Amino acid sequence: MRGLEGKAAIVTGGATLIGAKVAEAFAQAGVGTVLADINAQDGQRIAGELGDKVKFVKTDVTNDSDIDACLKTCEESFGRVDFLVNVACTYLDNGLASTRDEWLTALNVNLVGMAIFTQKAQCYMRKQGGGSVVNFASISGKRAQPGRMLYSASKAAILQFTRNAAMQVADDNIRVNSISPGWTWSNIMVQLTENRREKADAVAAPFHILGRTGSPEEVASSVLFLCSDEASFITGTDLAVDGGYSAIGPEQMTDAVSKLAE
Ligand SMILES: NC(=O)c1ccc[n+]([C@@H]2O[C@H](COP(=O)([O-])OP(=O)(O)OC[C@H]3O[C@@H](n4cnc5c(N)ncnc54)[C@H](O)[C@@H]3O)[C@@H](O)[C@H]2O)c1
Repeated sequence: MRGLEGKAAIVTGGATLIGAKVAEAFAQAGVGTVLADINAQDGQRIAGELGDKVKFVKTDVTNDSDIDACLKTCEESFGRVDFLVNVACTYLDNGLASTRDEWLTALNVNLVGMAIFTQKAQCYMRKQGGGSVVNFASISGKRAQPGRMLYSASKAAILQFTRNAAMQVADDNIRVNSISPGWTWSNIMVQLTENRREKADAVAAPFHILGRTGSPEEVASSVLFLCSDEASFITGTDLAVDGGYSAIGPEQMTDAVSKLAE
């Protein structure tokens, strides 16, 4: 893809399977990458595995000084900051029973963290004439799901944050988009299925047109597309990387109409 090589990216939440695959894809495209996460153990291990082009900086997205230090390290290490990919999230959620503290914590990590990171990254991106921000939203921000509230509300807010931010940074030649993955093979699925991908795929099949979970590599390539010059006229929008989840209606893929005549 055009416009990636020699540039520099920050990936928050980079210590998880999805974030690590985004960092790996950037490194393979010749992009210097900073993994920013509170999980130093996995972050350092992943950065070590990915080679010289990838650095880990322990960063809490709810802490403004950490965000400043992360941006500074990216500029000092790679001479610039071109791309910000906001992957970090919390799944803290007690549905409608969630307390005020839980609401504020979830929104702080999932929404306010990326908002402040974007605000601060704008100054760096402006210096080199532009950049691209990709925010991780989700199918959960578009559809009701059992038991969920904080996670879903924060993901829906990210979709709107993306539209407004795109308008407010366009003069600096910065594009802002989101991606909304469907069920993606990720740390939580590895744990829940005891690393059985076929089990996750079978559970996901009825509500994804493509009949399986997505791979973190498929999510990563969408992120790189949105950062690249191939997406130079794309801003303020959401890319559904969901195997058709959001295209399906309540009948799912059953032939419900034929049941009328039974
Ligand atoms: N897994 C899926 O099926 C799926 C589906 C749709 C969207 N997504 C989105 O993809 C992204 C990754 O999801 P995942 O399932 O891999 O999540 P995960 O919980 O495995 O990873 C989240 C990462 O964020 C980090 N993090 C948490 N709080 C932080 C903070 N305050 N500062 C910095 N880092 C922090 C964690 O340490 C972790 O590495 C999320 O934005 C999620 O909403 C995932």
